[in-house]
Amino acid sequence: MRLQGKTALITGAARGIGRAFAEAYIREGATVAIADINGDGVRATAAEIGAVPIVMDVTDQASIDAGVAEAAARMGGIDILINNAALFDLAPIVDITRDSYDRLFAINVSGTLFTMQAVARHMIDTGRKGKIINMASQAGRRGEALVAVYCATKAAVISLTQSAGLNLIAQGINVNAIAPGVVDGDHWDGVDAKFAAYENKPRGQKKKEVGEAVPYGRMGTAEDLTGMAIFLATPEADYIVAQCFNVDGGNWMS
Ligand SMILES: NC(=O)c1ccc[n+]([C@@H]2O[C@H](COP(=O)([O-])OP(=O)(O)OC[C@H]3O[C@@H](n4cnc5c(N)ncnc54)[C@H](O)[C@@H]3O)[C@@H](O)[C@H]2O)c1
Repeated sequence: MRLQGKTALITGAARGIGRAFAEAYIREGATVAIADINGDGVRATAAEIGAVPIVMDVTDQASIDAGVAEAAARMGGIDILINNAALFDLAPIVDITRDSYDRLFAINVSGTLFTMQAVARHMIDTGRKGKIINMASQAGRRGEALVAVYCATKAAVISLTQSAGLNLIAQGINVNAIAPGVVDGDHWDGVDAKFAAYENKPRGQKKKEVGEAVPYGRMGTAEDLTGMAIFLATPEADYIVAQCFNVDGGNWMS
């Protein structure tokens, strides 16, 4: 019960890693609000796991403001934010569209920054110290031939984490990030399908290849990430500021 009495808002948590974080936080005693653009999905997940559902689009400032206010009102404040909502796309440089670029940056970068801003303002206004965890990726550590835009958004998340971490620690708010490697689930099923189209591979082949390439010997699971997400939200992590932690089975060293 390491998060007993704490409240957390987790974006993009109707499914996948965000959902696993919500379940882990609830197991640790926290009250959790899960926010997602997928209204039916977030309501169903919230009912299943005992969370507060918030319908929120992180690309829309009014939706962020309303969602953060609703989460704070329903839980009696927000102590922890996990900026987890994101979108993936891939294409060779010559095929990248402005629509894809704008959408990925709107969700992955602007969404992360302005949700962090709204929650940081709430934490400062209510005089609470807080923890903010941004979801980066190994994709933010280096480029990939077919994944230029997504990689750039995750590099931006790492950079925003560094700047926000340095700025907000003065108010007792720790900002850090987690960089997963390849995590099995709905998200990677979509990634696999896109790679299959561009690399002319049968469905499932890319997943098999990336899993075998992980030094640990397999793809990650959402549960592999929960330990770090819990730790970064506890007082044991008070002296950790503006860092990005790889939880990727050994894929990347930094
Ligand atoms: N799965 C992986 O291999 C992997 C690897 C590295 C990093 N990550 C990162 O981890 C996080 C979670 O990944 P996942 O695999 O669970 O992804 P996912 O696609 O399964 O879940 C993302 C969630 O975000 C929601 N979302 C999308 N746009 C939104 C918006 N505008 N506003 C609010 N919610 C929105 C979706 O509805 C979905 O529920 C992401 O930041 C992702 O980039 C994932």
